[in-house]
Amino acid sequence: MKGEEWAVQRRLDDFLGGLEAKFGALRGRIEVVPSPGVAFEEIGGLEQSKAEIRGLSSALRVPDLYREWGITPSRGALLYGPPGTGKTLLAKALATAAGALFYHLKLLNLTSKIGPATAEVVQGVFGVATAEGKGVVFLDEADALSLEHVLPPDRAREVSMQLIGGLVELLDGLREFPNLMILAATNRPDAIDPALIAPGRLDRIIEVPLPEGPALREIIEIHRVRAEVLAGRPLFEPLDFDAILPRVAGMSGGEVAEVVRRALEGKVQLAGAEQAAGPVTTRDLLLAVDALRRVRDVVEKIRYGQYL
Ligand SMILES: Nc1ncnc2c1ncn2[C@@H]1O[C@H](COP(=O)(O)OP(=O)(O)O)[C@@H](O)[C@H]1O
Ligand SMILES: [Mg+2]
Repeated sequence: MKGEEWAVQRRLDDFLGGLEAKFGALRGRIEVVPSPGVAFEEIGGLEQSKAEIRGLSSALRVPDLYREWGITPSRGALLYGPPGTGKTLLAKALATAAGALFYHLKLLNLTSKIGPATAEVVQGVFGVATAEGKGVVFLDEADALSLEHVLPPDRAREVSMQLIGGLVELLDGLREFPNLMILAATNRPDAIDPALIAPGRLDRIIEVPLPEGPALREIIEIHRVRAEVLAGRPLFEPLDFDAILPRVAGMSGGEVAEVVRRALEGKVQLAGAEQAAGPVTTRDLLLAVDALRRVRDVVEKIRYGQYL
């Protein structure tokens, strides 16, 4: 870590320490990193979403251009789509491309722990972020701001309105800080208060859909290459994508990554039992797909109460 980055990290650690003194452990609920190190090339498919995020990054990279054309840049965007489709990756890629600090606020975890006091934490983060220079504040699981999961409905509505009101005020106050970009993410866009996405606030709405066809193939390749780079050797036989792609249709990028991981884990277990573990084959991947689908079916059954 460079000297300057180290100094930033020190200040951020002090700041988080101060919050923890008041609210208890926040590890895993807020993370701040000088650069998350995610390149757009590591995100498969999502051409449209990536293009829109790249567009937003110019607000951080070349703010003067906006002045030359007589406008102020957008404050930020709402990313929406199913779980595991790459919303967090996109937010991290934006921060990486812009050379910005990344402030990751996991609002489901935060609100579950400290409820309405989340407003104070968000305010604190914005305060630090405006002082630190370029930054991307990521309001992850933004639907949790409805507080439906922590309070009875009437009370949730009332307290959530205050929380959103405070947040909107903060967003409006950010107009003078062109070096900050705010991204929110959700898989329940219906639960997002319209005030947050009004013009001049998070007014770019970016869909992050499930991958299809070529995108699925790209995601498998990204995770194959990553494992091979880490291992420093080839780990896969040439794959038969005509056989694989139909079987992973409908899966999220996160699930596809998990299929690749499980296929490799099978090899680890063979090697651990001192059995021959050849390279990962198409068949290994298909078996991993089946195993993951079984897990998914069980999760669904539990969710829909068929085990009660
Ligand atoms: N488009 C993608 N390309 C490559 N990997 C992906 C993609 N989408 C998801 N993944 C994998 O799934 C994991 C979870 O993705 P994430 O961005 O956290 O999803 P979300 O925030 O939408 O729930 C990532 O860390 C990555 O390993
Ligand atoms: Mg996420």
